[in-house]
Amino acid sequence: MIPVAVAHLKRCAILLLLIVWWPRLEAATPPAAAIATAHPLATEAGHEILAAGGNAFDAAVAITAALAVVEPTGSGLGGGGFWLLHRARDRHEVMIDGRERAPLAARRDIYLDDKGEVIPRLSVDGPLAAAIPGTPAAMAHLARRYGRLPLSKTLAPAIRLAREGFAVGESYRRMAQFRRDALRGSPEGARLFLHENDVPPAGHILKQPELATTLEAIARRGAAGFYDGPVAARLIDGVRAAGGIWTKEDLARYRIVERKPIRGRYRGLRITAASPPSSGGVALVTMLNILAGYDLAKFDAATRNHLIIEAMRRAYRDRAIYLGDPDHVTVPARKLTHPLYADGLRAAIRPDQATPSKLLPGGATLETGDDTTHFSVLDREGNRVAATMSINFPFGSGFVAPGTGVLLNDEMDDFSAKPGAPNVYGLVGGNANAIAPGKRPLSSMTPTFLENDHGVAILGTPGGSRIITMVLLATLDAASGAEPASWVGLKRFHHQFLPDVVQHEPGTFDAAQAEALARLGHTLKEVNDPYGNMQAVLWDRKSGKVLAASDPRGEGKAEVR
Ligand code: GLY
Repeated sequence: MIPVAVAHLKRCAILLLLIVWWPRLEAATPPAAAIATAHPLATEAGHEILAAGGNAFDAAVAITAALAVVEPTGSGLGGGGFWLLHRARDRHEVMIDGRERAPLAARRDIYLDDKGEVIPRLSVDGPLAAAIPGTPAAMAHLARRYGRLPLSKTLAPAIRLAREGFAVGESYRRMAQFRRDALRGSPEGARLFLHENDVPPAGHILKQPELATTLEAIARRGAAGFYDGPVAARLIDGVRAAGGIWTKEDLARYRIVERKPIRGRYRGLRITAASPPSSGGVALVTMLNILAGYDLAKFDAATRNHLIIEAMRRAYRDRAIYLGDPDHVTVPARKLTHPLYADGLRAAIRPDQATPSKLLPGGATLETGDDTTHFSVLDREGNRVAATMSINFPFGSGFVAPGTGVLLNDEMDDFSAKPGAPNVYGLVGGNANAIAPGKRPLSSMTPTFLENDHGVAILGTPGGSRIITMVLLATLDAASGAEPASWVGLKRFHHQFLPDVVQHEPGTFDAAQAEALARLGHTLKEVNDPYGNMQAVLWDRKSGKVLAASDPRGEGKAEVR
């Protein structure tokens, strides 16, 4: 009798252990690696580096540099970004803040005329619009601290692409049309990115030998290859000769910052996302905290979307009031991401009526934007990178310092040029995001990880102020069990407090839903074109599958290998 009882007890104990530890007993490492980027050549560059023995962080360096070459509309060495990392061996998670910084000579009123009015386009076109780039420093830091391959290896695919050239796609041509005048304003920008001073024809091969040389300098000397020596001298000379204010000291003093990501929870999902100076993680978690108080699946589509819109409205109101560079202003991130704070916001939402934004206290925020780029990487060890990078407007400021091949950003436009006056996107920010020397402009970029015991998701997208609501909609979709192809393909809608309208893609709401939302008091505004270019990866530990998806709106490629 006794041995039987002991055996039974043992079986019970093993069963109990299996139940308790089941999530941990599921695959500890993914069966495949996955990369999703906005350009097939960048996805290929990442896989090339993984195949050469690199980890996800090495692949991220290769992809960052490759995108700088093949998608100069969205990001580049002349810009900045946020790289969200998860290291599998010790579960270390960090955000590398490679956001641009205002030049030291920048002043609060730099874009204002004698009467205190904003001078149109000064923060958008030309070298005065450019903040000090962070991407080269971020690449060097990623390689040194987290990678296992030297920059000479990880930058090789980008150097090759810059020297040998690649055929520009339709998206490049569309953006070149949009930014043709800005590029024409910079002789070097026009020479490199236009063809005979106009939009290049289909199939045009874009070669960038100067950019290859700059990348080679970084491969040899790390960050110093960009921020010091001949490249730095050419950047300063070029910028100053064209009316810009950069100094040697600006470049020498640029530093990335390792920051703690923003964390939150939504119905069993753990959220890890970009922290300030991005508004992305804070606004995302605020919205999810508000929505966690509802069982969204129980509502009809119009009511569900009404509640989502009201959550967006409130999070963007807070964005406009409170968020800025945490090294310069106090950002109440803990308060804004606290579930009790969201309870207060939710209590004021009426299920039967929209709240007019003008009845809520606060400022305004920015509109739209089709700039920027995102990529997601998972390697076979379980390391992950979600990175969103930008030069702001398509082709940035349009300005290239002669001899560098580096297209400079116009990220200064992400500051509030004058409290109360709209910038080129309609931005009317407050003091938290006012210009100051060395300060980082507020961003909406939202590289994000979602995780529960069943799986891990890596996602993000470009799209200006609409980035955060795109990531929100994808997160809600993921929480309901959908897969990456669904997240990236979802029809999108967006509310950003002011203007008090619900922007949406064509076909997002059917006639009945549009009517119901209008009855609740929402003003719907269809945007002409689809927006966003989401890149997502899912490691489903339960099924043992790795999935990846690239937004059908873009020209990117997601590949599991
Ligand atoms: N320049 C786009 C952003 O940082 O949000």
